[in-house]
Amino acid sequence: MFEIISIPDDAPVQFEQMGTKYKFWYTGSDGERTLFKQGRPNTGENWAEKVCCELCSLLDLPHAHYEFAKWKEVNGVATPTIVPNGARLVHGNELLAGVNKYEAGKQYKVRGHTVRLVLAVIGNPDFDPPIGCNVPGEFTSASDFFVGYLMLDAWVSNQDRHHENWGLVVSQDGGVTLAPTFDHAASLGRNESDETRLDRLRTKDKGRSVEAYVERARSALYKSSISKKPLTTSDAFNEAARLRTDAASYWLSRLAGLSFDDIEAIFNNIPSGSMSDLAREFAMKMLKINLERLLTRGV
Ligand SMILES: Nc1ncnc2c1ncn2[C@@H]1O[C@H](COP(=O)(O)OP(=O)(O)OP(=O)(O)O)[C@@H](O)[C@H]1O
Ligand SMILES: [Mg+2]
Repeated sequence: MFEIISIPDDAPVQFEQMGTKYKFWYTGSDGERTLFKQGRPNTGENWAEKVCCELCSLLDLPHAHYEFAKWKEVNGVATPTIVPNGARLVHGNELLAGVNKYEAGKQYKVRGHTVRLVLAVIGNPDFDPPIGCNVPGEFTSASDFFVGYLMLDAWVSNQDRHHENWGLVVSQDGGVTLAPTFDHAASLGRNESDETRLDRLRTKDKGRSVEAYVERARSALYKSSISKKPLTTSDAFNEAARLRTDAASYWLSRLAGLSFDDIEAIFNNIPSGSMSDLAREFAMKMLKINLERLLTRGV
């Protein structure tokens, strides 16, 4: 069973303003700077974050680590910092702010936030892969890891890859690495009620099915700066796969190599009371459908 870290009442040392959820920094029991983040009540944001973290581990995708955590009576997740001492996390919008007409100050509906632009920026030859990660032989750029982030988003239907949910880590000596992937709370149908889940799982109406549900998942990335709507999560990955074929093939082969037992074990390790049976059934079905869709697309 995954542990639930109990955070002392007097632990908070600094409140974090970025993002939309309540969160604070504290020093973990191992001395590490750690962020506590509260999932919104009556949503599955905490289990979604933990499940995605474990899926990243199976894929060997560089990611922020998350554990269930509780502070006072507040349920959340705890994540040790992905930013080494003296380094700084530079978010996507700060990096893209110099691009002509880029709407760096907006959080959503930023049409300039295209897959092509993000891959090009991260693909700067001076930027290195995430710190300490295993680099596959066929990778030639840090952007090959971002292709993996987009495959993850398509697998878990993460609808929140906006320009403050990826970034670069800039160290004191000027070295630049892609930040590990973080913030996957908006995935796996975490916002649906059990009633809706049950309906979608059992319906005979194709339009209400889980298959139809995952097809509608939208990313916060666009095909072009004149696109009317953001790309679906699967089309965002398809676009990345078109631009970086070898990396996409690599990540798809990792996905194909996963065992269903390992995926199921993640759900079996969620502490009782942290996730309903229907949430588990619905999330697992989403993963199964998305995995089949990804693996049958071909690169
Ligand atoms: N493990 C981590 N290490 C370093 N910084 C982090 C970590 N996790 C989060 N952050 C910082 O805190 C910010 C907010 O965290 P996060 O994106 O998880 O929260 P959020 O409220 O869910 O955001 P959103 O509004 O995108 O849903 C991030 O943009 C990042 O700057
Ligand atoms: Mg965020």
